[in-house]
Amino acid sequence: MTQHYANIVGLGMYAPEKVLTNADLAKIVDTSDEWIVSRSGIRERHIASDKEQCSDMAAAASRDALAMANVDPSDLDLIIVATSSPDNHVPPMSSLVQDKLGAGNVGAYTLVAGCPGWVYAMVQGSAMIQAGLAKNVLVVGAELISRYLDFTDRATCVLFGDAAGAVVLQATDKPCGLLSYELGSDGSGAEHLKMKGCGTELPPREDTIGNREDWYLQMNGREVFKFATRKMVDSLHSVLEKADLTFDDIDYVVPHQANMRIIEYAAGKAKLAPEKMIANVSNYGNTSAASIPLAMCEAYHDGRIKPGQKLVFSSFGAGLTWAAAIFELATP
Ligand code: ACO
Repeated sequence: MTQHYANIVGLGMYAPEKVLTNADLAKIVDTSDEWIVSRSGIRERHIASDKEQCSDMAAAASRDALAMANVDPSDLDLIIVATSSPDNHVPPMSSLVQDKLGAGNVGAYTLVAGCPGWVYAMVQGSAMIQAGLAKNVLVVGAELISRYLDFTDRATCVLFGDAAGAVVLQATDKPCGLLSYELGSDGSGAEHLKMKGCGTELPPREDTIGNREDWYLQMNGREVFKFATRKMVDSLHSVLEKADLTFDDIDYVVPHQANMRIIEYAAGKAKLAPEKMIANVSNYGNTSAASIPLAMCEAYHDGRIKPGQKLVFSSFGAGLTWAAAIFELATP
């Protein structure tokens, strides 16, 4: 029986044109460049224009990934879009992306698992290919999180940004692709990162609309920080052990880009050389489910990530959820 592997053959990214610097934010809320840089490492982030929707960003990143993969949209077998900031609750954003790309009427679904959503989607897309059920799978992470931010709340509005990243997974018989993974969730920490409104708990009605904080992202930064550092280190070790590898076998770790201090903490605990950690949080802020494909795409274009390498993805976020996975890129 032929063994199928899911190789990463295309990478694309999109960040809106408008850049919001820490100095710009200091004009809106009581904050400073010094505070933001020392606590998070973030210097600037991209913010979508009023005319842009999350599906536009997802489609733009996907077009680049498809072009690099030399895959026509009509040859896709499955589209998975990870996001927590879709254009609408209904319809699923994945169908809008499918239509904007001019892809065939193939299966398309939106996956919501907080920031790790894209890693979840990469595991699912790979599993479809490994099972022989798909040849070309588009896996997108896209977030237009600025629309959910309270720009009077300095504890959250300085941390996030808008962007999209996309990957094309393609079936091959060359050994490569997903080597190991861990997906997890712990709903007992759900309160630490939440947007209360717009669901069944708090639908938008005349009598509920008045309490403005219910309609924005709320975060208990310290609790998320503790959870993130613990889970990142534990899940990195877990996926290495499952794949029977050590950090010496890994070319790069591509972590969720939430905060430079979390990335440095994980690198220190794992005794990893800082240059093995891909980081671009300083220029984009936390772009949630888009952050890992965005960082990977940049590192591919600047020549760090190359065919033949082994990469570890590691993420954490709302849920609370976490995910880690090791992927090997096939040699040409
Ligand atoms: N500018 C200036 N001061 C601020 C700001 C700001 N933007 N935000 C908060 N402060 C103040 C606080 O009010 C507090 O003041 P006080 O001591 O007088 O009360 C002080 O700074 C310290 O606040 P802390 O919250 O303790 O600051 P901390 O060192 O914990 O850093 C941070 C906060 C950066 C949010 C940190 O907790 C963190 O990174 N948490 C993880 C966040 C994260 O990764 N979230 C996303 C994961 S999930 C996802 O990606 C969707």
